[in-house]
Amino acid sequence: MIRNVSRSDLSKIIDIENQSFSTPWPRFMFRSHLGNPGFVLYEQDDAVKGYVIVDIIDSRLHLMSIAVHPKYQRCGIGTNLIDWCIEFGKIHGASMLTLEVREKNRSVQMFYLKNGFDVQGIMPGYYIDDNAVAMYKEI
Ligand SMILES: CC(C)(COP(=O)(O)OP(=O)(O)OC[C@H]1O[C@@H](n2cnc3c(N)ncnc32)[C@H](O)[C@@H]1OP(=O)(O)O)[C@@H](O)C(=O)NCCC(=O)NCCS
Repeated sequence: MIRNVSRSDLSKIIDIENQSFSTPWPRFMFRSHLGNPGFVLYEQDDAVKGYVIVDIIDSRLHLMSIAVHPKYQRCGIGTNLIDWCIEFGKIHGASMLTLEVREKNRSVQMFYLKNGFDVQGIMPGYYIDDNAVAMYKEI
């Protein structure tokens, strides 16, 4: 099931984060999103397997972060979380879901393309060590 994140879930979210990114977000970033209705986790068999954070900016839903625990990747959980974002965006009147991904991170770009996103453009120097690919999906 997909449900909102509470304070007691934070350690599990941070564990997923640390296993997923070379420069993980610090705990305070996640703490600052507690209470955001767009901060949800995917739970199955009492295990937290993934999370996503989205924010509404004007009429756009922006994906701030998404990760699935390496043990549970390629099982459809990321797609489930994107589907949840789309429904959440529709309920809140958003017409587009947007995100940025590292240009070097081809495999994650494949994931977004598979989920119906298009490339909007390249953002040079967006990350300290890489360009960003801006992607969007109409919802
Ligand atoms: C991106 C991420 C969330 C995808 O989650 P997931 O649960 O593994 O994704 P799904 O199982 O729903 O994948 C759906 C489809 O996307 C594509 N895809 C997913 N991961 C892929 C990969 N590593 N390489 C190529 N294609 C991939 C495949 O077509 C896949 O379908 P298939 O498994 O039937 O071939 C996960 O890989 C992750 O947490 N990565 C590390 C964190 C990260 O980089 N987040 C994004 C920051 S912008």
